[in-house]
Amino acid sequence: MCIINLYINGRYHRLPLINGTFDKAIDISKLREYTKLITFDPGLKNTAITKSSISFINGENGKLLYRGYPIEQIIDKCSFVETCYLILNGSFPDYKQLKFFKEKINSFDSIQNKIYNFLDKIPNSCHPMAILSSITNILSSFDNSIKNEDSHFYLLSKLPTLSAMIYRKKYGLPNIFIKNKKSICYIYNILKMFFSIPNKSYEKNNHIIDALEKLLILHIDHEQNCSTTTVRLLSSARSNIFSSISAGINALWGRLHGGANQAVIEMLETILKDGGNINKWIEKAKDKKNSFRLMGFGHRIYKNFDPRAKIAKYVAENLIKKLNIYDPILDIAKNLEINTLKDSYFSEKKLYPNIDFYSGIIYQAIGIPKDMFTVMFALGRLPGWIAHWIEIKNNLEPIGRPRQIYIGNKKRNI
Ligand code: SDX
Repeated sequence: MCIINLYINGRYHRLPLINGTFDKAIDISKLREYTKLITFDPGLKNTAITKSSISFINGENGKLLYRGYPIEQIIDKCSFVETCYLILNGSFPDYKQLKFFKEKINSFDSIQNKIYNFLDKIPNSCHPMAILSSITNILSSFDNSIKNEDSHFYLLSKLPTLSAMIYRKKYGLPNIFIKNKKSICYIYNILKMFFSIPNKSYEKNNHIIDALEKLLILHIDHEQNCSTTTVRLLSSARSNIFSSISAGINALWGRLHGGANQAVIEMLETILKDGGNINKWIEKAKDKKNSFRLMGFGHRIYKNFDPRAKIAKYVAENLIKKLNIYDPILDIAKNLEINTLKDSYFSEKKLYPNIDFYSGIIYQAIGIPKDMFTVMFALGRLPGWIAHWIEIKNNLEPIGRPRQIYIGNKKRNI
């Protein structure tokens, strides 16, 4: 067992080192007992709050592993459902396991009328993320026959359907129910549920299916990001999986987190409307006195290219070419990336495009509106959230309850 010696108040204190697969940590669980001191780390930038075997990020080299497999290999060789299975079970499925997994997900494809009625009551002015988190939170109350061991299949089946219902209601499309769902792929089914219109089935486009499949795989898991840590905290309190995922959806909605994919396109559209003056906006982002930031740039962990952004950029360029559409926003994005890479402000702070920088361009090319972008991020991240919720539950981790440094008033009488 490796030990470090900490010299505090004239004494040495021996703290164990914990070895992970790739990195090490100082175990400070006894620090307060030994020294009466606690640590201070706003934003938990240097603090591991748990052990996990689901995904690993090498931020310095821009690498991402799902259960040990590099994201680049998964993207080329695996489907979204196979990767869901990997993230939930720790290994890829064989033919029989995959068949059973798909059948379980498809077995929950009906939507009770009560859910339709509930959605109908929600004002169209609500943001789709608010609607998705609300309905996810009460989902189990619509159907109390769900067994605990089936809840993740239930979520994997229901959330895409609910997202499509939210989109269709908001954009005035009639409700439809997809028939022969069993025989079609998960991603094609999502597109059919979103875009089919009565008497005119959604025309299958393999380029779009491939692009969406790759994009959702890129979003499946990403260590202890804000929304996943939120889900883990609720699981540590033994909250049920529906309320935990609902909390994850709300955390993801933040514009510094998953909400950035919508903010990126809004920013690029503003720059386009402003005559495409890239350097003016780069200077604004560098100006400390200006609250403007380049959305889709920077990352807490990646101090190199986000490998997902590289793949998303390739998928975006490829899809736009295959669909033979011209999107001036893509040109603005590519020029912004080129110009920031040449600028010392960004290189010194190691600010590179992250996953959110190109994802919106792909969603837009598919026909998904901006206010649904973060919903799509949630559909991608759902398997990761579920896996983390289960990991906490199985490991019986203690309830998450950080300490604080109190800076308020001394004791005083009324
Ligand atoms: C996601 O954690 C995950 O893994 C998240 C995610 C996932 O898959 O779950 O990858 C998904 O959320 C991606 C990030 C999406 N958000 C954005 O694109 C919003 C814009 N980016 C930032 O707000 C910021 O970069 C964060 C939030 C992503 C990271 O913030 P940090 O790690 O707290 O870094 P910081 O705010 O302390 O910035 C360090 C410096 C600061 O300058 P100084 O005070 O040191 O002088 O870099 C500057 C910042 O001002 N900076 C930026 C910037 N991001 C950081 N300057 C201009 N534009 C930016 N985008």
